[in-house]
Amino acid sequence: MATSVDPIVTRNIGNPESWTLRSYLDHGGYEGLRRALKMSPEEVQSEVDKANLLGRGGAGFPAGRKWSMLRKASPSYLVVNGDESEPATFKDHMLMEEDPHQIIEGTLITAYAIGAAQAFIYVRGEFALGIERMTSALNEAYAHGAVGHRIFDSDFSIDVVIHPGAGAYICGDETALLESLEGKRGFPRIKPPYFPAVMGLYGAPTIVNNVETMSNVPWIILNGGEAFAAMGEAQATGTRLFAVSGHVVKPGNYEVELAKNTFRDLIYDPRYGAGIRGGNQLKAFIPGGASSFWFGPERLDMPLDETKVKGEGGSMMGSGSVIAMDENMCMVRASWRLVRFFQRESCGQCTPCREGSSWLEKIMRRIENGAGRTDDLDLLLDVCDNISPGVQWPSKWPPNMTTICPLGPSIPPPIVSAIGMFRDEFLVHIKEGACPYG
Ligand SMILES: Cc1cc2nc3c(=O)[nH]c(=O)nc-3n(C[C@H](O)[C@H](O)[C@H](O)COP(=O)(O)O)c2cc1C
Ligand code: SF4
Repeated sequence: MATSVDPIVTRNIGNPESWTLRSYLDHGGYEGLRRALKMSPEEVQSEVDKANLLGRGGAGFPAGRKWSMLRKASPSYLVVNGDESEPATFKDHMLMEEDPHQIIEGTLITAYAIGAAQAFIYVRGEFALGIERMTSALNEAYAHGAVGHRIFDSDFSIDVVIHPGAGAYICGDETALLESLEGKRGFPRIKPPYFPAVMGLYGAPTIVNNVETMSNVPWIILNGGEAFAAMGEAQATGTRLFAVSGHVVKPGNYEVELAKNTFRDLIYDPRYGAGIRGGNQLKAFIPGGASSFWFGPERLDMPLDETKVKGEGGSMMGSGSVIAMDENMCMVRASWRLVRFFQRESCGQCTPCREGSSWLEKIMRRIENGAGRTDDLDLLLDVCDNISPGVQWPSKWPPNMTTICPLGPSIPPPIVSAIGMFRDEFLVHIKEGACPYG
């Protein structure tokens, strides 16, 4: 049975004109910032540490720990990642459109905690309404005295810049994002040495955090890190916003308590996905976005807990996108479409990613179009193994890498999962020379 806790990051959504300063102030807006400014930066950081707020952008690294790893040097920067370009991930999009002030407030509190000289919010270029609302919220926040010189008459001053991206998925990778912010092509940087906290924007120490991560910060400062950690369990604290899509009755963004709820709750609870459309059976689901290994219905009762999803499940919760696929879905086509996305978005720097993704896409396309060969499955798995050595089914987390950034090892999971779970479907495509699903 799904638990019910008061939402954190979506608590203002649904209020009339929730994106305006008026509405935000009517619901306690900027009180977290006022409180933070009366605390020392170390105290603010300590609350976020106690909350054990894991980053919501994909990698799931604890925000407080990341902040403490910032190299001590001046200047340092804060960059908020609102690039969100992965297929079926649409939670940050909603937060930017519906509650931009919450993101700005979280950004300001974080900037104060880490001593940033300037903050940047990088927003996916296609989010026209999101950019408009973020920009107008920032202007309102300046006029309100919440941003700029001597914020709320304190000694803290900072400018915040909203920077639209130009339509590349790879710019969501934190190091590519920094290149893009510097005005260059969005090529990921090699770590080490380019860990952003050590050598980030303009070579200066930089914290990169996700939009949803930032949205949690005002609540944590107002209610305390312990109150946040009291929700969920162990390492899976607080709530999380999941983008539930695919063949569910009610696709949408749902904020649920971590660890106490399961994938079954997200997909079947009438408040969330409300089950599979047309009364169909669930065939498989993708638990953490396009780059995660798939789960079958036997994993529905796995708790929404990153440690378990990685450890027991060999996959990840990643970007918080859960995609349900019903019995009428062709699994060859589903994995081909995902691989095609990665192939188009590869930046091309690394041979395994650039060439491998193109080969995989071509082989998958020919199988789906009825021109597959009997040795294609071995070939697919061999190419996957060259991109991510040792990749296998049942899956293990984390995948190995031969590439500069994690986009490379994001390519095999849809193929390895589909072959591992639905090998027969591939064989039927090849034997019959056609897609059995039409
Ligand atoms: C190809 C690729 C795309 C990514 N896209 C995003 C994105 O759109 N938004 C995001 O917050 N993180 C994205 N990430 C993860 C970021 O590199 C980074 O881990 C994250 O922004 C850190 O924020 P967090 O610690 O608050 O999660 C992406 C990573 C990769 C490799
Ligand atoms: S893994 Fe792919 S996207 Fe990442 S740097 Fe290499 S070529 Fe570019």
